[in-house]
Amino acid sequence: MGGGPERIKRQHATGKLTARERIEKLLDEGSFIELDKFVTHRCNNFGMEKTRIPGDGVVTGYGKVNGRYVFIFAQDFTLFGGSLSETYALKICKIMDLAMKTGAPVIGLNDSGGARIQEGVQSLAGYADIFLRNVLASGVVPQISAIMGPCAGGAVYSPALTDFTLMVKDTSHMFITGPNVIKTATHEEITMEELGGAMTHNSVSGVAHFIADHDEECLALIRELLSFIPQNNMEDPPRQPTRDDPERAEELLQTLVPENPNKPYNMKDLVEAVVDDGYFFEVQPYYGQNLVIGFARMSGRPVGIVGNQPAHLAGTLDIAASLKGARFVRFCDAFNIPLIVFEDVPGFLPGVNQEHGGIIKHGAKLLYAFCEATVPKITVITRKAYGGAYCVMNSKHIRGDINYAYPTSEIAVMGAEGAVEIIYSREIAQVKDPLAFKESRVREFQEKFANPYVAAELGYIDEVIEPKDTRPKLIRALEMTETKRDTNPPKKHGNIPL
Ligand code: HXC
Repeated sequence: MGGGPERIKRQHATGKLTARERIEKLLDEGSFIELDKFVTHRCNNFGMEKTRIPGDGVVTGYGKVNGRYVFIFAQDFTLFGGSLSETYALKICKIMDLAMKTGAPVIGLNDSGGARIQEGVQSLAGYADIFLRNVLASGVVPQISAIMGPCAGGAVYSPALTDFTLMVKDTSHMFITGPNVIKTATHEEITMEELGGAMTHNSVSGVAHFIADHDEECLALIRELLSFIPQNNMEDPPRQPTRDDPERAEELLQTLVPENPNKPYNMKDLVEAVVDDGYFFEVQPYYGQNLVIGFARMSGRPVGIVGNQPAHLAGTLDIAASLKGARFVRFCDAFNIPLIVFEDVPGFLPGVNQEHGGIIKHGAKLLYAFCEATVPKITVITRKAYGGAYCVMNSKHIRGDINYAYPTSEIAVMGAEGAVEIIYSREIAQVKDPLAFKESRVREFQEKFANPYVAAELGYIDEVIEPKDTRPKLIRALEMTETKRDTNPPKKHGNIPL
């Protein structure tokens, strides 16, 4: 009963489920095995010795999701505000250690007032013990954090270290310091929701990857996310049978990409036309929208999709898109999920904000991530592949396994107009009719470079394909690369440009 019926009532009144109800809803029916339910805190400060309650504010154990084991902890806000004590942290560490030994995901359901204030440094030590395990488990077993209540102060760093963070609308908040402290420190006034609510972290900060309307939806999203990913870094992701024909040609794709290079289209329409049953499980749909990332299946096999989005900022790469893409590529690489890249990118986004914000080092993260990835990597250039962005988006040169291009795609250092302005600047200033001069040079440039055949002649593009054949071509390339083995040089670790 956690903190008792009165507090459970209060929990429900705020629209939240209790820790146990959440576990019930997340796991396969009847599969939960609880550990450490008799553990209590060891604190004797401030009268705490009178309130030793079995379980001590967190429910931990293991169970199954879609028949596969996961380890889980659910913080119980009805007991001491879900605040973290020394023994509570030990309970979490125990299931994390078991997850590492057995190779199963760790799921944390967060709903807590943070460090147990009465315990002082012992509580902080508990957090640090968890942080260490989050880092050691990173890239070994998947870690998923749901924020289903408050999550403040240093406590936010455990979710931040995990692979995916989900937040529930209205009831979840994350921040290092709350609105009151901010008001005192910087005189800025902001509501809790604007500062660290679910939409803020899904759209502005990029801290969260998914947003749910309520607890049930959040738990369903975790189940779905798990269906795309393996139990650990030694396994392949689970396959799911499909009736969608691997040879399906999609006529819609012949006309989806507009001939006019300045006209936008929705890259998600293209992705959905290609993947199994038109189903794309998008990750971070509200952040860095010029890059689309997410999971799908091809002939039953999970894949990670990375696509430039011409419908947003013309598909340019900016700081947010680079960060979003880099983290996703590294997750897929760590967990043996093949990468499919749909490329239509006019370059990196120009601007003082971008330059001063460090687009150089952030863009480098995406480049680094694609370079180091050794999973099967397949690219389809659907239209533009310009400049440095051509290199970054999984080009042949950085170990793209199979690189396709549509016949109308343009692979060049930059767009024709910009190129002509630069290489003919002196002539343009001198000729009688600069407009006509420019037009003829633009045409010449387009004929020479605005096509995929120069790159194909050089072997940088393996095959120029009809758009309608994208699905069968990708499925065959995925089949062919199924046995791929590639490695990076032995080292302690690389030095990604953080
Ligand atoms: C001990 C706590 C607690 C805490 C809440 N409670 N937070 N007990 N340690 N950190 C208790 C309350 O005393 C109360 O007990 C019960 O939990 C419910 O809390 P309420 O305040 O009544 O609930 P609510 O109004 O919903 O407000 C929730 C809250 C607020 C916003 C989370 O409780 C709050 O601000 N708590 C303190 C948050 C905080 O500053 N934590 C330390 C952050 S630093 P009773 O018995 O009265 O019902 C941190 C560092 C992490 O966490 C370190 C990592 C390195």
